[in-house]
This record gives sequence, C-alpha cells and structure tokens, in this order.
Amino acid sequence: MDYDRFVATRLKTIPPSGIRRFFDIIATMPDVISLGIGEPDFITPHEIVEAGIRSLRDGHTGYTSNSGLFELREALSDYLARRYGVQYDPEREILITVGVSEALHLTATALLNPGDEVIIPEPCFVSYAPTVALAGGRPVHVPTRAEDAFQVDAEQVARAVTPRTKAVLIGYPNNPTGAVMSRERLAELVGLAKAHNLLIWSDEIYDRLVYGVEHVCVPTLPGARERTILLGGFSKDFAMTGWRLGYACGPAPLIAGLRKVHQYIVMSAPTTAQYAALEALKVADEVVEHMRLAYDRRRQVIVRGLNEIGLPTFEPRGAFYVFPNIESTGLSSEEFSERLLLEERVAVIPGSVFGPSGEGFVRCSYATSLTELEEALDRIERFVARVRRERRARPEE
Ligand SMILES: Cc1ncc(COP(=O)(O)O)c(C=O)c1O
Repeated sequence: MDYDRFVATRLKTIPPSGIRRFFDIIATMPDVISLGIGEPDFITPHEIVEAGIRSLRDGHTGYTSNSGLFELREALSDYLARRYGVQYDPEREILITVGVSEALHLTATALLNPGDEVIIPEPCFVSYAPTVALAGGRPVHVPTRAEDAFQVDAEQVARAVTPRTKAVLIGYPNNPTGAVMSRERLAELVGLAKAHNLLIWSDEIYDRLVYGVEHVCVPTLPGARERTILLGGFSKDFAMTGWRLGYACGPAPLIAGLRKVHQYIVMSAPTTAQYAALEALKVADEVVEHMRLAYDRRRQVIVRGLNEIGLPTFEPRGAFYVFPNIESTGLSSEEFSERLLLEERVAVIPGSVFGPSGEGFVRCSYATSLTELEEALDRIERFVARVRRERRARPEE
C-alpha cells in the first residue's frame, strides 16, 4: 500500500529530529557516558513525589478544570508575583498545560494563520521551528553568535520582519548554548516588538537555573506584558520531566484561544502532576537551590575542562548545557559527535540540529554526575588529541 499518500503533506516538510538518531545509536551501546540528554539527572524531590501520591490516595483521579486546578493557578500567580513582580489573573490569564511542549503548540495553533511568520533566533530548542510549521506558520531563523554571547540582536530581528511577521519566539536561559539574555538586549527586543506590533513568545523553562546573573522575566519589562506569552514549566527546575506539566500566561483574549485548543486536545493536564506541582511551588526555594548549586559546580568543571582541551567554550550562565566550539578539529559537528560516540562512547549532540549557526559546535549537558563528567572529559581529550594527530599526519591538500 502507498501509505505516503495518506500522510499529511505539511508533515513531510519537517525533518525528523536530529537528536533522535543519536539516541537510537546510544541505545545499542553499553558503557556510554551521555552528555546528550536534556533532562535533570536528579529525581523529583521527595516532598513533591509524596504530594502526587497523596493526591491519588485522596481520590483525585479525575479530570481537573480545563485551565488546570484553580488552586494551582492561584499558587502560580502568587509565585510569579513574588519571584518576578508580574501579575497574572488565575481565572483568565493562566493555563496549565502538558509541559512547555504543549504550551508551545497551543500558542502556535491558536495564534497563527497559514503563512504567518515567527522569527526564531537560533541555535535554539529543536521543537520551535517544527511547532510553528505544524501550525501552518513559517519559521524564520535569525542567527546568534558566540562572539556576541549568543544574545538576540534586535537590529537583526528587525531586518527579518515582514508584513506577515506575527511573533518572535525566544528561549532564555537557552538550550543549547546556556546563554542568558541581558536586560538591555531584552529591552531592545521589546522595543522592536512594540515598533512592529509583534508578540513575544518567551519560553522561560530554565528560569531558575542561572549562575551569577539575573534571569529577566520578559513580561516584567516596560511595555512587554501586553504582548508576551510567558511559557514556563516544572520539567527542568524541579526535575519533573516525566510528570509533563507546564503553563502559559498572557493577556486573557490570547489565553482564551490557547484554552480552546487545549480543551479539545487534552481536556486537562495530568491531575496527579498538578497536585505535585502545587507542592513544588511551596517547597521551591529549598529544593531548587540544592540542584542549582550542584549544576553550577559541574558547569565550572566542564567549562574549564573543555577550554583546557582546546575546545573554546563560551561560559554558559544558565540551563545545564555547554556549547564548545569544535571547529579546530576539522570535523563537522555531526562527524565529531558520531566519532566521539563510536570511538570513546561519549554522547554529545551536534550543534547543527539546533539551527545553522550551531554548526561548528556540539551541545554537552552537564546534568550528570561529577565523576561521569570527569571521565567524559578524559575521553574527549583522548579523542581530540587523536583527531589532531590524524590531521597532522594527513598530507596537505
Ligand atoms: C527550551 C525548552 N523548552 C521546552 C522544553 C520542553 O519542556 P517540557 O518538558 O515542559 O515539555 C525543553 C525540553 O528540553 C526545552 O529545552
């Protein structure tokens, strides 16, 4: 049977995830140190797990309201007000979702007409462009550069604006670079959004994982709240990837659109996870700090180690990724990652999967133990030395 003719055409324009291919290879190999996976190596703090279990024992096994438990929306509203000073009405301006993944899809589906353009600075999270494309929109990439600390350049974004541009989609602290946007650069971006009447979709899923710098919550900037969809979640900060819980906050008429899509595709986010998240917000200050400090120690070890190996590494100030420059090896990011995996059993992700500007870099996650990180650095050093020896032995072309 020709199944191809049954598959939607819009799906064919979307390449399969470049990350998946690596995970498929890893799954077949023993003794791999994985710096590939973008999730915490911690398990969910036990208070949060207990709250989830308790909710089940108490019989909370049904759907919640489409928007999510009112108690959770209220707690989230208080949490965001306390932490960032931004106010969202729990009734009309907050929607609890199945992770930021769903929140992104809702945003694109509810807000884009066919052919609408969304400007996406890259390198960026692999789902952004497919999410926009699946909703019928057109992703338009603009590059960010290591020399500029992977900051979004508002002037460059301005040059990409057309009459079809509807939004700019940013994710800071950034996956894969670990960059954190400065207040000044964000303010410039907000200025540009105002000038061209654009929305800002701000994925702030790593908001609490910053090291020695402030995280600026985009809607707190002057004039930003009315045009921002704030996307946040529990996966990374609280080590809750498997619970599948996130949220979208924004002006009521836009959130009403997201809610409409949400109610027809998932009804409500997982109930157990919502009770767990309620507890997470209560204990956040104790439990997150412990993990953040551990990531920070590992961050310092890996940045120093990679630079000493001769792979220039921009100092990441957020999330749990480093993005070393591997151009000096003469390998493409894909060749580097594939050979490192096969020859030394260390998994990293080719920078090219995060956008064209990611070529020449690889992403390493340091959400792994210090012992494993140190072993991985030894293996990377051995690999890089071998590749360099091979290059020197090769006759000049
Ligand atoms: C920047 C970014 N946004 C969103 C997600 C998805 O998060 P969630 O687990 O909340 O769906 C990820 C996961 O890797 C991510 O890195």
